[in-house]
Amino acid sequence: MNVSVFGLGYVGSVSAASFAADGHTVVGVDVNADKVASLNEGRSPIVEKGLDALIRDNAASGRLRATTSTAEAVHATDLSLICVGTPSRKNGSLDLAYLERVAEQIGEALRDKDAYHVVCVRSTVLPGTTHDVVIPALERASGKKYGAGFGVTVNPEFLREGTAIHDFRNPPLTLVGHNYRSDAEPTQALYAKVEAPMITTSIRTAEMIKYASNTWHALKVTFANEVGNLCKRLKIDSHEVMDIFCRDEKLNLSAYYMKPGFAFGGSCLPKDVRAMQYRAKEVDLEMPVIQSILSSNQLQIQHAIDEIVDTGKKRVGLLGFSFKAGTDDLRESPIVILAEALLGKGYQLCIYDRNVSIARLVGANKDYINKQIPHLSSLLSESIDEVLDASDVIVVGNAAPEFEDALMRTRPDHIILDLVRVKKERPRIPADYRGICW
Ligand SMILES: NC(=O)c1ccc[n+]([C@@H]2O[C@H](COP(=O)([O-])OP(=O)(O)OC[C@H]3O[C@@H](n4cnc5c(N)ncnc54)[C@H](O)[C@@H]3O)[C@@H](O)[C@H]2O)c1
Repeated sequence: MNVSVFGLGYVGSVSAASFAADGHTVVGVDVNADKVASLNEGRSPIVEKGLDALIRDNAASGRLRATTSTAEAVHATDLSLICVGTPSRKNGSLDLAYLERVAEQIGEALRDKDAYHVVCVRSTVLPGTTHDVVIPALERASGKKYGAGFGVTVNPEFLREGTAIHDFRNPPLTLVGHNYRSDAEPTQALYAKVEAPMITTSIRTAEMIKYASNTWHALKVTFANEVGNLCKRLKIDSHEVMDIFCRDEKLNLSAYYMKPGFAFGGSCLPKDVRAMQYRAKEVDLEMPVIQSILSSNQLQIQHAIDEIVDTGKKRVGLLGFSFKAGTDDLRESPIVILAEALLGKGYQLCIYDRNVSIARLVGANKDYINKQIPHLSSLLSESIDEVLDASDVIVVGNAAPEFEDALMRTRPDHIILDLVRVKKERPRIPADYRGICW
Protein backbone atom coordinates (compact mmCIF):
# COMPACT_ATOMS: atom_id res chain seq x y z
CA MET A 1 0.00 0.00 0.00
CA ASN A 2 0.98 3.65 -0.43
CA VAL A 3 -0.16 5.26 2.78
CA SER A 4 0.10 8.71 4.36
CA VAL A 5 0.02 9.10 8.14
CA PHE A 6 -1.18 12.45 9.50
CA GLY A 7 0.18 13.33 12.95
CA LEU A 8 3.58 11.99 13.96
CA GLY A 9 2.91 11.72 17.68
CA TYR A 10 2.77 8.49 19.67
CA VAL A 11 0.21 6.74 17.50
CA GLY A 12 1.28 8.18 14.15
CA SER A 13 5.02 7.55 14.40
CA VAL A 14 4.62 3.98 15.69
CA SER A 15 2.03 3.24 12.98
CA ALA A 16 4.10 4.87 10.21
CA ALA A 17 7.30 3.00 11.11
CA SER A 18 5.53 -0.32 11.67
CA PHE A 19 3.59 -0.17 8.37
CA ALA A 20 6.85 0.68 6.58
CA ALA A 21 8.51 -2.31 8.28
CA ASP A 22 5.71 -4.48 6.86
CA GLY A 23 6.64 -3.40 3.31
CA HIS A 24 4.20 -0.53 2.75
CA THR A 25 5.44 2.80 1.39
CA VAL A 26 4.67 5.40 4.05
CA VAL A 27 4.67 9.20 4.01
CA GLY A 28 4.38 10.79 7.46
CA VAL A 29 2.84 14.27 7.72
CA ASP A 30 3.02 16.71 10.61
CA VAL A 31 2.59 20.47 11.03
CA ASN A 32 5.61 20.35 13.32
CA ALA A 33 8.65 20.73 11.03
CA ASP A 34 11.02 19.39 13.74
CA LYS A 35 9.13 16.07 13.89
CA VAL A 36 9.22 15.83 10.09
CA ALA A 37 12.97 16.56 9.99
CA SER A 38 13.64 14.08 12.77
CA LEU A 39 11.86 11.29 10.90
CA ASN A 40 13.64 12.12 7.64
CA GLU A 41 16.97 11.96 9.49
CA GLY A 42 16.06 8.50 10.74
CA ARG A 43 15.36 9.53 14.35
CA SER A 44 12.19 8.96 16.29
CA PRO A 45 10.22 12.15 17.09
CA ILE A 46 9.04 10.55 20.38
CA VAL A 47 10.55 8.37 23.11
CA GLU A 48 9.34 4.82 22.59
CA LYS A 49 11.29 1.57 23.03
CA GLY A 50 12.59 0.23 19.68
CA LEU A 51 11.14 3.06 17.60
CA ASP A 52 14.48 4.77 16.83
CA ALA A 53 15.85 1.63 15.20
CA LEU A 54 12.62 0.96 13.31
CA ILE A 55 12.54 4.50 11.90
CA ARG A 56 16.25 4.49 11.08
CA ASP A 57 16.05 1.19 9.13
CA ASN A 58 12.89 2.11 7.22
CA ALA A 59 13.93 5.68 6.46
CA ALA A 60 17.21 4.26 5.09
CA SER A 61 15.36 1.72 2.91
CA GLY A 62 13.25 4.53 1.38
CA ARG A 63 9.93 3.05 2.57
CA LEU A 64 9.44 5.79 5.16
CA ARG A 65 9.71 9.54 4.72
CA ALA A 66 7.95 12.64 6.09
CA THR A 67 6.70 15.99 4.84
CA THR A 68 4.78 19.03 6.03
CA SER A 69 2.86 19.12 2.75
CA THR A 70 -0.58 17.56 2.97
CA ALA A 71 -1.16 17.85 -0.78
CA GLU A 72 2.07 16.09 -1.65
CA ALA A 73 1.31 13.25 0.77
CA VAL A 74 -2.29 12.80 -0.41
CA HIS A 75 -1.27 12.72 -4.07
CA ALA A 76 1.48 10.19 -3.43
CA THR A 77 -0.76 7.73 -1.56
CA ASP A 78 -4.09 5.84 -1.80
CA LEU A 79 -4.95 5.84 1.87
CA SER A 80 -4.51 8.48 4.59
CA LEU A 81 -4.51 7.65 8.30
CA ILE A 82 -5.54 10.44 10.66
CA CYS A 83 -3.57 10.18 13.92
CA VAL A 84 -3.79 13.76 15.22
CA GLY A 85 -4.51 14.49 18.86
CA THR A 86 -8.07 14.72 20.21
CA PRO A 87 -7.32 16.24 23.63
CA SER A 88 -9.77 16.89 26.49
CA ARG A 89 -11.15 20.35 27.12
CA LYS A 90 -11.54 21.46 30.74
CA ASN A 91 -15.16 20.26 30.81
CA GLY A 92 -14.20 16.78 29.52
CA SER A 93 -15.46 17.33 25.97
CA LEU A 94 -13.14 16.53 23.08
CA ASP A 95 -11.24 19.30 21.33
CA LEU A 96 -11.79 18.34 17.69
CA ALA A 97 -9.99 21.35 16.20
CA TYR A 98 -6.95 19.33 15.00
CA LEU A 99 -9.18 16.60 13.62
CA GLU A 100 -11.42 18.99 11.70
CA ARG A 101 -8.43 20.95 10.40
CA VAL A 102 -6.60 17.88 9.13
CA ALA A 103 -9.80 16.58 7.47
CA GLU A 104 -10.18 19.96 5.71
CA GLN A 105 -6.54 19.87 4.59
CA ILE A 106 -6.90 16.33 3.22
CA GLY A 107 -10.18 17.43 1.55
CA GLU A 108 -8.45 20.41 -0.12
CA ALA A 109 -5.79 18.07 -1.48
CA LEU A 110 -8.49 15.69 -2.79
CA ARG A 111 -10.07 18.50 -4.81
CA ASP A 112 -7.62 17.94 -7.68
CA LYS A 113 -6.98 14.23 -7.21
CA ASP A 114 -8.93 12.04 -9.62
CA ALA A 115 -8.31 8.64 -8.06
CA TYR A 116 -10.53 7.35 -5.24
CA HIS A 117 -8.86 7.93 -1.86
CA VAL A 118 -9.71 6.39 1.53
CA VAL A 119 -9.35 8.41 4.72
CA CYS A 120 -9.01 6.32 7.87
CA VAL A 121 -9.65 7.84 11.31
CA ARG A 122 -7.22 6.29 13.79
CA SER A 123 -7.53 9.05 16.41
CA THR A 124 -9.90 8.28 19.29
CA VAL A 125 -13.24 9.98 18.61
CA LEU A 126 -16.67 9.71 20.21
CA PRO A 127 -19.41 7.89 18.27
CA GLY A 128 -20.84 10.15 15.60
CA THR A 129 -17.70 12.26 15.17
CA THR A 130 -16.63 10.69 11.88
CA HIS A 131 -20.10 11.27 10.41
CA ASP A 132 -20.66 14.69 11.98
CA VAL A 133 -17.18 16.27 11.71
CA VAL A 134 -14.75 14.32 9.50
CA ILE A 135 -16.98 13.47 6.53
CA PRO A 136 -18.58 16.97 6.31
CA ALA A 137 -15.12 18.60 6.48
CA LEU A 138 -13.82 16.30 3.73
CA GLU A 139 -16.89 16.95 1.55
CA ARG A 140 -16.77 20.72 2.15
CA ALA A 141 -13.10 21.06 1.29
CA SER A 142 -12.93 18.55 -1.58
CA GLY A 143 -16.23 19.37 -3.28
CA LYS A 144 -16.68 15.58 -3.59
CA LYS A 145 -19.24 13.21 -2.11
CA TYR A 146 -18.45 10.59 0.52
CA GLY A 147 -18.78 7.16 -1.10
CA ALA A 148 -18.28 8.55 -4.60
CA GLY A 149 -15.13 10.71 -4.57
CA PHE A 150 -13.55 9.32 -1.40
CA GLY A 151 -14.10 6.66 1.26
CA VAL A 152 -13.82 6.72 5.04
CA THR A 153 -13.00 4.07 7.64
CA VAL A 154 -12.36 4.06 11.37
CA ASN A 155 -9.48 1.99 12.73
CA PRO A 156 -9.01 2.61 16.47
CA GLU A 157 -5.58 2.10 17.96
CA PHE A 158 -5.15 -0.17 21.01
CA LEU A 159 -1.44 0.37 21.71
CA ARG A 160 -0.01 1.31 25.11
CA GLU A 161 2.85 3.79 25.37
CA GLY A 162 6.08 2.04 26.43
CA THR A 163 5.15 -1.22 24.70
CA ALA A 164 3.68 0.36 21.58
CA ILE A 165 5.72 -1.54 18.98
CA HIS A 166 5.07 -4.87 20.63
CA ASP A 167 1.36 -3.94 20.90
CA PHE A 168 1.22 -2.92 17.23
CA ARG A 169 2.58 -6.36 16.28
CA ASN A 170 0.37 -8.25 18.75
CA PRO A 171 -2.97 -6.46 18.98
CA PRO A 172 -5.94 -8.26 20.60
CA LEU A 173 -7.79 -7.60 17.34
CA THR A 174 -7.78 -5.28 14.36
CA LEU A 175 -10.97 -3.27 14.10
CA VAL A 176 -12.14 -1.60 10.90
CA GLY A 177 -15.36 0.40 10.89
CA HIS A 178 -16.80 1.19 7.47
CA ASN A 179 -20.03 1.77 5.59
CA TYR A 180 -18.85 0.40 2.23
CA ARG A 181 -16.99 -2.91 1.81
CA SER A 182 -14.72 -1.36 -0.86
CA ASP A 183 -13.51 1.27 1.67
CA ALA A 184 -12.59 -1.38 4.24
CA GLU A 185 -10.39 -3.37 1.89
CA PRO A 186 -7.40 -0.94 1.66
CA THR A 187 -7.40 -0.48 5.45
CA GLN A 188 -7.53 -4.23 5.97
CA ALA A 189 -4.69 -4.71 3.46
CA LEU A 190 -2.44 -2.58 5.68
CA TYR A 191 -2.63 -5.31 8.32
CA ALA A 192 -1.82 -8.26 6.05
CA LYS A 193 1.28 -9.04 8.13
CA VAL A 194 -0.25 -8.49 11.56
CA GLU A 195 -1.54 -11.73 13.01
CA ALA A 196 -4.76 -10.85 14.82
CA PRO A 197 -8.47 -11.39 14.27
CA MET A 198 -9.77 -8.86 11.72
CA ILE A 199 -13.13 -7.49 12.84
CA THR A 200 -15.21 -5.25 10.60
CA THR A 201 -18.24 -3.34 11.76
CA SER A 202 -20.01 -0.01 11.24
CA ILE A 203 -18.19 3.29 11.76
CA ARG A 204 -20.27 4.26 14.82
CA THR A 205 -19.81 0.85 16.45
CA ALA A 206 -16.04 0.99 15.93
CA GLU A 207 -15.92 4.46 17.50
CA MET A 208 -17.90 3.20 20.50
CA ILE A 209 -15.78 0.07 20.97
CA LYS A 210 -12.69 2.21 21.56
CA TYR A 211 -14.45 4.10 24.38
CA ALA A 212 -15.94 0.93 25.89
CA SER A 213 -12.43 -0.59 25.86
CA ASN A 214 -10.59 2.31 27.46
CA THR A 215 -13.28 2.87 30.08
CA TRP A 216 -13.19 -0.84 30.89
CA HIS A 217 -9.42 -0.70 31.31
CA ALA A 218 -9.79 2.29 33.63
CA LEU A 219 -12.50 0.45 35.58
CA LYS A 220 -10.26 -2.60 35.94
CA VAL A 221 -7.43 -0.51 37.40
CA THR A 222 -9.79 1.23 39.81
CA PHE A 223 -11.52 -1.99 40.86
CA ALA A 224 -8.21 -3.73 41.52
CA ASN A 225 -7.00 -0.75 43.54
CA GLU A 226 -10.15 -0.65 45.65
CA VAL A 227 -9.95 -4.39 46.32
CA GLY A 228 -6.25 -3.88 47.11
CA ASN A 229 -6.97 -1.09 49.59
CA LEU A 230 -9.52 -3.26 51.40
CA CYS A 231 -7.11 -6.22 51.42
CA LYS A 232 -4.42 -4.05 53.00
CA ARG A 233 -6.79 -2.96 55.81
CA LEU A 234 -7.71 -6.61 56.36
CA LYS A 235 -4.04 -7.72 56.27
CA ILE A 236 -4.51 -9.89 53.18
CA ASP A 237 -2.06 -9.87 50.27
CA SER A 238 -3.97 -8.14 47.45
CA HIS A 239 -1.65 -9.50 44.78
CA GLU A 240 -2.28 -13.07 45.83
CA VAL A 241 -6.03 -12.33 45.82
CA MET A 242 -6.02 -10.78 42.35
CA ASP A 243 -3.60 -13.36 40.89
CA ILE A 244 -5.94 -16.15 41.93
CA PHE A 245 -9.01 -14.08 40.96
CA CYS A 246 -7.57 -13.69 37.45
CA ARG A 247 -7.11 -17.44 37.06
CA ASP A 248 -10.90 -17.74 36.84
CA GLU A 249 -11.38 -17.21 33.14
CA LYS A 250 -14.93 -18.56 33.18
CA LEU A 251 -16.71 -15.97 35.29
CA ASN A 252 -14.13 -13.32 36.27
CA LEU A 253 -12.17 -12.56 33.11
CA SER A 254 -14.52 -13.64 30.38
CA ALA A 255 -17.51 -12.58 28.30
CA TYR A 256 -19.81 -13.82 31.08
CA TYR A 257 -21.87 -11.04 32.71
CA MET A 258 -20.91 -8.68 29.88
CA LYS A 259 -24.24 -8.52 28.07
CA PRO A 260 -26.16 -5.25 28.45
CA GLY A 261 -29.58 -5.94 29.93
CA PHE A 262 -31.46 -5.78 33.20
CA ALA A 263 -30.27 -5.33 36.79
CA PHE A 264 -28.55 -8.18 38.64
CA GLY A 265 -30.33 -9.86 41.52
CA GLY A 266 -30.61 -13.20 43.26
CA SER A 267 -29.49 -14.43 46.61
CA CYS A 268 -25.77 -13.70 46.21
CA LEU A 269 -24.65 -10.67 44.21
CA PRO A 270 -26.66 -7.92 46.01
CA LYS A 271 -26.03 -9.45 49.44
CA ASP A 272 -22.30 -9.89 48.91
CA VAL A 273 -21.71 -6.46 47.38
CA ARG A 274 -23.57 -4.93 50.37
CA ALA A 275 -21.49 -6.94 52.84
CA MET A 276 -18.22 -5.87 51.19
CA GLN A 277 -19.33 -2.22 51.25
CA TYR A 278 -20.20 -2.57 54.92
CA ARG A 279 -16.81 -4.13 55.77
CA ALA A 280 -15.08 -1.21 54.02
CA LYS A 281 -17.14 1.23 56.08
CA GLU A 282 -16.11 -0.59 59.27
CA VAL A 283 -12.44 -0.04 58.45
CA ASP A 284 -13.07 3.58 57.37
CA LEU A 285 -12.27 2.90 53.74
CA GLU A 286 -13.88 4.69 50.83
CA MET A 287 -14.43 2.58 47.71
CA PRO A 288 -16.30 4.92 45.35
CA VAL A 289 -16.50 2.51 42.43
CA ILE A 290 -17.61 -0.52 44.43
CA GLN A 291 -19.89 1.66 46.54
CA SER A 292 -21.72 2.87 43.45
CA ILE A 293 -22.55 -0.62 42.14
CA LEU A 294 -25.87 -1.07 43.93
CA SER A 295 -27.15 2.41 43.10
CA SER A 296 -26.28 1.84 39.43
CA ASN A 297 -28.16 -1.47 39.59
CA GLN A 298 -31.15 0.26 41.18
CA LEU A 299 -31.10 2.83 38.39
CA GLN A 300 -31.38 0.05 35.79
CA ILE A 301 -34.62 -1.10 37.45
CA GLN A 302 -35.83 2.51 37.34
CA HIS A 303 -34.99 2.69 33.61
CA ALA A 304 -37.29 -0.28 32.99
CA ILE A 305 -40.08 1.31 35.08
CA ASP A 306 -39.67 4.59 33.16
CA GLU A 307 -39.86 2.76 29.81
CA ILE A 308 -43.12 1.09 30.88
CA VAL A 309 -44.60 4.34 32.23
CA ASP A 310 -43.64 6.11 28.98
CA THR A 311 -45.78 3.69 26.94
CA GLY A 312 -48.86 5.25 28.60
CA LYS A 313 -50.45 1.79 28.88
CA LYS A 314 -51.59 0.30 32.17
CA ARG A 315 -51.97 -3.45 31.55
CA VAL A 316 -48.55 -5.07 31.91
CA GLY A 317 -47.65 -8.72 31.44
CA LEU A 318 -44.43 -10.10 32.90
CA LEU A 319 -42.86 -13.13 31.25
CA GLY A 320 -40.29 -14.39 33.73
CA PHE A 321 -40.33 -13.53 37.41
CA SER A 322 -37.17 -15.06 38.89
CA PHE A 323 -33.89 -13.23 38.31
CA LYS A 324 -32.78 -15.68 35.63
CA ALA A 325 -34.25 -18.53 33.62
CA GLY A 326 -34.16 -22.00 35.11
CA THR A 327 -34.53 -21.02 38.78
CA ASP A 328 -37.44 -20.43 41.14
CA ASP A 329 -35.37 -18.22 43.46
CA LEU A 330 -37.16 -14.90 43.89
CA ARG A 331 -34.91 -13.41 46.55
CA GLU A 332 -33.89 -9.92 45.46
CA SER A 333 -35.24 -10.56 41.97
CA PRO A 334 -35.19 -7.17 40.24
CA ILE A 335 -38.40 -8.18 38.43
CA VAL A 336 -40.11 -8.49 41.79
CA ILE A 337 -38.98 -4.94 42.64
CA LEU A 338 -40.21 -3.75 39.25
CA ALA A 339 -43.57 -5.53 39.75
CA GLU A 340 -44.04 -3.98 43.19
CA ALA A 341 -43.28 -0.50 41.83
CA LEU A 342 -45.84 -0.94 39.04
CA LEU A 343 -48.48 -2.27 41.44
CA GLY A 344 -47.84 0.75 43.67
CA LYS A 345 -48.53 2.99 40.67
CA GLY A 346 -51.86 1.26 40.03
CA TYR A 347 -50.84 -0.89 37.04
CA GLN A 348 -52.70 -4.09 36.27
CA LEU A 349 -50.22 -6.99 36.26
CA CYS A 350 -50.32 -10.52 34.94
CA ILE A 351 -47.26 -12.70 35.49
CA TYR A 352 -46.03 -15.95 33.98
CA ASP A 353 -43.06 -18.00 35.19
CA ARG A 354 -43.25 -21.76 34.87
CA ASN A 355 -40.67 -22.42 37.60
CA VAL A 356 -42.25 -20.04 40.07
CA SER A 357 -45.71 -21.52 39.45
CA ILE A 358 -44.41 -24.98 40.27
CA ALA A 359 -42.50 -23.66 43.28
CA ARG A 360 -45.62 -21.96 44.60
CA LEU A 361 -47.20 -25.37 45.04
CA VAL A 362 -44.36 -27.69 45.95
CA GLY A 363 -40.88 -26.15 46.04
CA ALA A 364 -38.64 -25.03 48.87
CA ASN A 365 -39.58 -21.44 48.02
CA LYS A 366 -43.29 -22.11 48.57
CA ASP A 367 -43.28 -20.32 51.93
CA TYR A 368 -41.41 -17.31 50.55
CA ILE A 369 -43.81 -16.96 47.63
CA ASN A 370 -46.98 -17.43 49.64
CA LYS A 371 -45.97 -15.45 52.73
CA GLN A 372 -43.56 -12.73 51.53
CA ILE A 373 -45.14 -11.85 48.21
CA PRO A 374 -48.78 -13.05 48.33
CA HIS A 375 -49.80 -9.85 46.54
CA LEU A 376 -47.68 -10.92 43.55
CA SER A 377 -48.19 -14.65 43.85
CA SER A 378 -51.93 -14.15 43.29
CA LEU A 379 -51.16 -12.51 39.93
CA LEU A 380 -49.38 -15.58 38.57
CA SER A 381 -50.97 -17.00 35.48
CA GLU A 382 -50.61 -20.57 34.22
CA SER A 383 -50.14 -19.78 30.55
CA ILE A 384 -48.15 -17.37 28.42
CA ASP A 385 -51.12 -16.77 26.14
CA GLU A 386 -53.27 -15.72 29.07
CA VAL A 387 -50.63 -13.06 29.83
CA LEU A 388 -50.55 -11.96 26.19
CA ASP A 389 -54.36 -11.65 26.12
CA ALA A 390 -54.56 -9.66 29.36
CA SER A 391 -51.75 -7.14 28.64
CA ASP A 392 -50.81 -4.23 26.39
CA VAL A 393 -47.15 -4.13 27.43
CA ILE A 394 -45.19 -7.39 27.63
CA VAL A 395 -42.01 -7.32 29.71
CA VAL A 396 -39.61 -10.21 29.07
CA GLY A 397 -37.79 -10.61 32.36
CA ASN A 398 -35.67 -13.70 31.88
CA ALA A 399 -34.37 -15.72 28.98
CA ALA A 400 -36.56 -18.84 29.22
CA PRO A 401 -36.51 -20.33 25.68
CA GLU A 402 -40.35 -20.43 25.53
CA PHE A 403 -40.45 -16.60 25.59
CA GLU A 404 -38.68 -16.25 22.24
CA ASP A 405 -41.55 -18.18 20.59
CA ALA A 406 -44.08 -16.17 22.60
CA LEU A 407 -42.88 -12.96 20.91
CA MET A 408 -44.10 -14.36 17.59
CA ARG A 409 -47.63 -14.68 19.05
CA THR A 410 -47.91 -11.02 20.11
CA ARG A 411 -50.41 -8.58 18.56
CA PRO A 412 -49.44 -5.49 16.53
CA ASP A 413 -50.82 -3.29 19.32
CA HIS A 414 -48.57 -4.95 21.94
CA ILE A 415 -45.42 -3.20 23.10
CA ILE A 416 -42.64 -5.57 24.12
CA LEU A 417 -39.95 -4.45 26.55
CA ASP A 418 -37.19 -7.05 26.37
CA LEU A 419 -34.87 -6.91 29.41
CA VAL A 420 -32.70 -9.87 28.45
CA ARG A 421 -32.44 -9.82 24.64
CA VAL A 422 -34.48 -12.99 24.42
CA LYS A 423 -34.95 -12.07 20.77
CA LYS A 424 -31.55 -13.08 19.43
CA GLU A 425 -32.00 -12.45 15.72
CA ARG A 426 -34.46 -10.06 14.15
CA PRO A 427 -37.40 -12.19 13.07
CA ARG A 428 -40.47 -10.17 12.10
CA ILE A 429 -42.55 -10.15 15.24
CA PRO A 430 -45.98 -8.52 15.17
CA ALA A 431 -45.51 -6.25 18.22
CA ASP A 432 -43.62 -2.98 18.72
CA TYR A 433 -40.34 -4.41 20.06
CA ARG A 434 -38.03 -2.42 22.36
CA GLY A 435 -34.89 -3.49 24.23
CA ILE A 436 -33.99 -2.00 27.59
CA CYS A 437 -30.53 -0.89 26.41
CA TRP A 438 -30.36 -1.65 22.71
N1 LIG B 1 -0.91 7.95 22.93
C1 LIG B 1 -1.49 6.77 22.98
O1 LIG B 1 -1.01 5.84 23.60
C2 LIG B 1 -2.77 6.50 22.22
C3 LIG B 1 -3.24 5.20 22.11
C4 LIG B 1 -4.39 4.96 21.38
C5 LIG B 1 -5.08 6.01 20.80
N2 LIG B 1 -4.62 7.29 20.95
C6 LIG B 1 -5.36 8.37 20.29
O2 LIG B 1 -4.68 8.68 19.06
C7 LIG B 1 -4.72 10.07 18.78
C8 LIG B 1 -3.33 10.65 18.70
O3 LIG B 1 -2.71 10.53 19.96
P1 LIG B 1 -1.17 10.82 20.15
O4 LIG B 1 -0.88 10.51 21.60
O5 LIG B 1 -0.38 10.12 19.10
O6 LIG B 1 -1.15 12.41 19.91
P2 LIG B 1 0.11 13.43 19.91
O7 LIG B 1 -0.36 14.68 20.51
O8 LIG B 1 1.32 12.73 20.47
O9 LIG B 1 0.39 13.63 18.37
C9 LIG B 1 -0.48 14.32 17.52
C10 LIG B 1 0.36 14.89 16.36
O10 LIG B 1 -0.55 15.43 15.40
C11 LIG B 1 0.09 16.56 14.83
N3 LIG B 1 -0.89 17.36 14.10
C12 LIG B 1 -1.84 18.20 14.60
N4 LIG B 1 -2.53 18.76 13.61
C13 LIG B 1 -2.03 18.28 12.44
C14 LIG B 1 -2.33 18.49 11.07
N5 LIG B 1 -3.30 19.31 10.70
N6 LIG B 1 -1.61 17.82 10.15
C15 LIG B 1 -0.63 16.99 10.51
N7 LIG B 1 -0.29 16.75 11.80
C16 LIG B 1 -0.98 17.38 12.76
C17 LIG B 1 0.73 17.25 16.02
O11 LIG B 1 1.74 18.16 15.63
C18 LIG B 1 1.28 16.03 16.78
O12 LIG B 1 2.59 15.73 16.37
C19 LIG B 1 -5.60 10.68 19.89
O13 LIG B 1 -6.92 10.72 19.46
C20 LIG B 1 -5.43 9.68 21.03
O14 LIG B 1 -6.53 9.74 21.91
C21 LIG B 1 -3.47 7.56 21.63
